[in-house]
Amino acid sequence: MLEALLYKSFPLRFIFAWLGILGLALLLFSSRRTSPKLPPRANEGTSFFSDILGFLASPVQFVELATGKYGSIFRIDCLVKQIFYLRGQKWNRFFLEMKEDTWSFSGGIGMFLDKAAKPGYFTHGRNLLGSINRGVNRSAALQSYGRLAGEEAHKSLQHWSQMPDVEIFESISRFVHRVIVRCMMGEDFYDQHVDELYDLLQQMESLVGHPFNLLLPAWVPHLPGRQLAKARDRFAEIFRERLAARQLKPDVWHDSLDYINYTLNDPRTAQLEDYYPSHHVVLMFAAHTSTVASIAWTIVELLRHPIYQEEIRESLATTSDIHQCAPLLACLREEGRRYSGVHMFRTTKRPVSLEGSDYTVPENSVVLISPYLTHHDPAIYPNPHEYKPHRWLLPDGRLDPWNGPKEAAFLQFGAGNHRCPGENFAAIMAREFLAALLMNYEMEWGSDGAPADFSRLDFTKVGSPWLEGDATVRIRPRELGA
Ligand code: HEM
Ligand SMILES: *[C@@H]1O[C@H](CO)[C@@H](O)[C@H](O)[C@H]1NC(C)=O
Ligand SMILES: *[C@@H]1O[C@H](CO)[C@@H](O)[C@H](O)[C@H]1NC(C)=O
Repeated sequence: MLEALLYKSFPLRFIFAWLGILGLALLLFSSRRTSPKLPPRANEGTSFFSDILGFLASPVQFVELATGKYGSIFRIDCLVKQIFYLRGQKWNRFFLEMKEDTWSFSGGIGMFLDKAAKPGYFTHGRNLLGSINRGVNRSAALQSYGRLAGEEAHKSLQHWSQMPDVEIFESISRFVHRVIVRCMMGEDFYDQHVDELYDLLQQMESLVGHPFNLLLPAWVPHLPGRQLAKARDRFAEIFRERLAARQLKPDVWHDSLDYINYTLNDPRTAQLEDYYPSHHVVLMFAAHTSTVASIAWTIVELLRHPIYQEEIRESLATTSDIHQCAPLLACLREEGRRYSGVHMFRTTKRPVSLEGSDYTVPENSVVLISPYLTHHDPAIYPNPHEYKPHRWLLPDGRLDPWNGPKEAAFLQFGAGNHRCPGENFAAIMAREFLAALLMNYEMEWGSDGAPADFSRLDFTKVGSPWLEGDATVRIRPRELGA
């Protein structure tokens, strides 16, 4: 029973509970040393446990309140792994430009994904992470991915149009998975394993969040640990099978634009073959959730505001290139502002003094900034809770390039050293799907109508939030000439 209850819980919640327990243990068993000046502790309650719980239950409200009380720098105390929160554009920039050897992005995602990867991946895999920008974000590959995404979109929509109700997030999740596997892994993985890979990734996503996997060291045996290892091993086995088959027919794969072919032929990553499965697990986590959110939330907002559907259709009727359709780009950008992730994570590898303040972030701490709260700062975005794509359009209808990466005020894809290498790929999937939907189908809410509450954002995923409880849509082909 306890197991079943725990099992339903999610990564973020348990990461912080884990940090809290470690902290308590250290408090009990060690004496405090003198340390450099720390920022104020954002205390809601009487104990740090109540702080952590408050932070977990409603991160947005917690951080908003704490910013009001303590300003742009505060800490959430776990004593050992303290969490330091930085607020505002200046600190966003500071955070994003910091080098990997000072505070670590791998350390940040490693907190969640360590056990989904082969030991050593997060220390030796840097070259793999670096290769995504070259292998995926190149124009020949992106052109081909666009074609494949368009094909997958038409297939999915055809299927949707035959169903009474379609769950938006759930169905987009399958679409995005199929496109990612087909493009990044290749047609062979897609033809033979696409559904199995979906199940394995779903399993891994819920298992990495299991408290045993988060709380206990790797050498302690337990069921969720074995289940996670089993899924991870099967994932790796699929890679071994497919790569062995490719070696038998090198000429077939010679021209393939998939990212695996790229890494096999780039000397910087060719010898890292043993880490490919781990790399693709991490990559799938990075690529999937947020791309699903971007497409699914846009559908939800277009259903709520049909006027933007019409605007996009009108523009698509006269634009030959769907990737240049300004009203569609504006809707997607506004989606990215409105529904971005709540925190961005780093861990410190050495003490960092916060320039211009007298505070220092100690080594081995967690540092966070908030894309979501930056995007809802009324001083940057008036009426931040309204979905208004037009804030991204110039009076003449072209896209307004304001709040570029330098301002650190729009963080959907991050900025600086770890700026998302999948931004263009994600945008291509989204535009292909939404253009195919709007050009060929009419849509309305499913049989339950519009959800009663759109503010229920599920922030427990690593990445952008989904709508808790999902929503349904119904589509039917448009009458030509109507
Ligand atoms: C709408 C969809 C997406 C959103 C909103 C998004 C967002 C982000 C953000 C905010 C970061 C920076 C995180 C940080 O600095 O802590 C990031 C990094 C990353 N993203 Fe994306 N992403 C999306 C799609 C993708 C896709 C499709 C891929 C697959 C190629 C991808 C791969 C990555 C990787 C590998 C990193 C880490 C980069 C590094 O090591 O420096 N993302 N993404
Ligand atoms: C795929 O790999 C081959 C080597 O087997 C390489 O020559 C080729 O450039 C790669 N294809 C692409 C389009 O990246
Ligand atoms: C991806 O490629 C585009 C076009 O070459 C480039 O402008 C962009 O900066 C690249 N993305 C990253 C994260 O470097």
